[in-house]
Amino acid sequence: MPVLRDTHRQRQTQSHYDTFPYEVGVRQSLVYESPHTLMGRFITEIKGGSILDIGCGPGNLLAPLAQRGNRVWGLDLSWQTLHLAVEHLHQSGQGSKVQLVQGSALVLPFASGQFDRVFAVGSLHHTPNARAGFSELCRVLNAEGRAYIALYRKYSYYHVLYQTLGKIARLCEKNRLLALIINRLLILPLFLIYFVLGRWIIHRRLQIPRWQESLNYFADQLLNPVVSFHTSAEIESWAHQTGMKISEIATAHAGALLNIVICRP
Ligand SMILES: C[S@@+](CC[C@H](N)C(=O)[O-])C[C@H]1O[C@@H](n2cnc3c(N)ncnc32)[C@H](O)[C@@H]1O
Repeated sequence: MPVLRDTHRQRQTQSHYDTFPYEVGVRQSLVYESPHTLMGRFITEIKGGSILDIGCGPGNLLAPLAQRGNRVWGLDLSWQTLHLAVEHLHQSGQGSKVQLVQGSALVLPFASGQFDRVFAVGSLHHTPNARAGFSELCRVLNAEGRAYIALYRKYSYYHVLYQTLGKIARLCEKNRLLALIINRLLILPLFLIYFVLGRWIIHRRLQIPRWQESLNYFADQLLNPVVSFHTSAEIESWAHQTGMKISEIATAHAGALLNIVICRP
């Protein structure tokens, strides 16, 4: 039964991201190269090798990775999202270096030990079993490999937001009229302010998103049907059980995210 439930929940996630791809204007973001962020340092240290981005979304990370790796793969559950990734890679001129694969983070279609670097940024917490996704990620990492994972942090302000305002928004979304009045006309404008302020805090840049971009971000944050939240102790125990160790850990987005680098001891 758990397998059937997982399949159903992955379909829900797939359908969610087919409707609202994670198209939120973070491409070419300085965060990918910044020496002040764990991710920026992790990326700039890459010199060649094979790289996998699990839950690559519309390819936000793929172009910067393609500039540094020899071979890059992006995997995502959502076809619509992958279509956008194709477009973005084409625009960045990095398309020929990247292979895109439709598939699940829980059953990666790759050989054990195939990759030098693996990324799972904001994706494992949308699977029905982040723990299983974590161990699948470790399986495809080679002996000297390192992985960068970003997961929602338990008990953060965003955890509370998802379970309160998010619950109302998800209920309203079931009814067309309520979805229009409460979600699109009431919550979404508030969310726009949250988005603009958040981007300013993270990137120190005033960025006014397009309507569709705001809607996608709102949907990602509040309408997402499958979201899990985790503690650093929990992830440390997963690492321990999988024969890995956490080499670096930091919080980001005002404590909403746990950013973790793992490797073999
Ligand atoms: C919040 S977006 C993050 C996208 C990208 N990593 C980024 O940081 O810009 C989450 C992505 O994970 C993908 N995803 C969710 N569950 C997945 C699964 N079980 N297998 C593969 N991808 C999945 C979604 O389709 C979506 O594109």
